[in-house]
Amino acid sequence: MKTPSKSNPQGLWYQHAIFYEVNLRAFYDSNGDGHGDLPGLIQKLDYLRDLGVDCLWLMPIYPSPRHDDGYDISDYCGIDPVFGTLDDFKQLLDEAHQRGMRVITDLVLNHTSDQHPWFQAARADRNSPYRGYYVWSDTGQEYKDARIIFTDTETSNWTFDPVAGQYFWHRFYKTQPDLNFDSPAVQQAMLDVAKFWLDLGIDGFRVDAPPYLFEREGTSCENLPETHTYLKKFRTFVEFQNPEALLLSEANQWPEDVIEYFGNGDEMHMNFHFPLMPRIFQSLALADRAPIEEILARTPALPANCQWATFLRCHDELTLEMVTPEVRQFMWNFYAPEPRMRLNMGIRRRLAPLLENDPARIRLAHSILLTLIGSPTLYYGDEIGMGDNIWLEDRNGVRTPMQWNASPNAGFSASPTLYAPVIADDVYGYRRLNVEAQEKDPDSLLNWLRRVIATRRLYPAFGDGTLTLLPVQNPAILACMRQNGTQTLLAVNNLSAAPQTFSLDLPDGKLKPLLDDQPADFNLPGYGFQWYELLP
Ligand code: NOJ
Repeated sequence: MKTPSKSNPQGLWYQHAIFYEVNLRAFYDSNGDGHGDLPGLIQKLDYLRDLGVDCLWLMPIYPSPRHDDGYDISDYCGIDPVFGTLDDFKQLLDEAHQRGMRVITDLVLNHTSDQHPWFQAARADRNSPYRGYYVWSDTGQEYKDARIIFTDTETSNWTFDPVAGQYFWHRFYKTQPDLNFDSPAVQQAMLDVAKFWLDLGIDGFRVDAPPYLFEREGTSCENLPETHTYLKKFRTFVEFQNPEALLLSEANQWPEDVIEYFGNGDEMHMNFHFPLMPRIFQSLALADRAPIEEILARTPALPANCQWATFLRCHDELTLEMVTPEVRQFMWNFYAPEPRMRLNMGIRRRLAPLLENDPARIRLAHSILLTLIGSPTLYYGDEIGMGDNIWLEDRNGVRTPMQWNASPNAGFSASPTLYAPVIADDVYGYRRLNVEAQEKDPDSLLNWLRRVIATRRLYPAFGDGTLTLLPVQNPAILACMRQNGTQTLLAVNNLSAAPQTFSLDLPDGKLKPLLDDQPADFNLPGYGFQWYELLP
């Protein structure tokens, strides 16, 4: 057991962790087949450790026909051969653990691929024991109050299967039939899957799409009490296998519904704060902290052993499901003027292009991410400000190969053909924008992020402290006070392009700047920010 220190605080590891989402296919190709793989990721673990990452979140690694980039699983207890083998995965766990990092992977409870043997058996025979693993209908008329999620591709949550002679239920693509969680066999099967990976030494799961496990007539079929009952059972089971394992849940819901996913500290340890994310961008666009302030005022306190996961971008579109129709239109107009930038209820662009590749705004967004609340999750490539390719289908434009250096294929792969083209334009292209170039430049985004993450690590109240937004008169200033039993921290952020001077009503004490030696006089340049410790 390590002695707790400032940089290794006592308490719950996930409340102090920096998460990093790895798109394995995009990360590093070790065998020259054009796809990133597990041995490739292992070779890059030092890079991630040096960035200050504590926990890797791997997008689905399982065998899959990949109609939804692996979120359509055809075998829950295997590794897609394109990524390597189970032995490679065990080696990844060992090597990550040796470097003090943990590894979680996506676990898709809600649905399987239509190629999964369970679905193939179910559709082929009404009397198959697997028929009851899925949700069937003779008419496809049930559950009319459930919304459609992939609005750009799907017109119904029911699809008729001619082999089965019935309609099957699916909340996502029609290649992803929903499992029937009313079936005790399905409930048990998913516990068995969790046990398989926990036995291998995995550190937890990112639980994909938890709101949709059950269906009930006359409801939206989201957040049902039955879902919470099952998730609590799942948590108890996981905790029994490994008391340190993490359940990071992806309930894309309003704060008052999300809070239910934490239970009394006995359901999910963490959940992404979906409503907060678009409001960070909205506040930046308006130079006004009000959207952030309003959603945080609406965010209930968490049980002591829980934590929010915060993020700026991820592998999906920047979702605008948790904003009003007016705000959605504003965000589309502001951040996605080109129709091709829009997808479903969101925006398929990466962080740097969204912020017009403006270093000041990109750093400010990270300052907010690292100091506001919760544990920050970085999306691969955003640490170097990678661009996107909106002309690729679906969400593939934000999943292009990682840009390691200026050599052909961005140093990602030696293959003549890649799973997706590298970004090669003048601004975001790999010849200019890559890890190797940024490592050499002390002022690069990468080196700056390494420094601020290292600073954050020294101040545990950024992870576990309470948050108070200070009532500054100037609406462009977002001032966050974070306090735990031993520390008081302050982060001030200027959301506007113009310099701002302001005053704050603070408890007595001396402000120690944490990011540089500037005096604490609250003069911030456009998009400037500063972090302080308040010393007694
Ligand atoms: C949420 C995932 O983030 C997304 O990529 C996927 O398409 C859906 N769940 C369906 O699994």
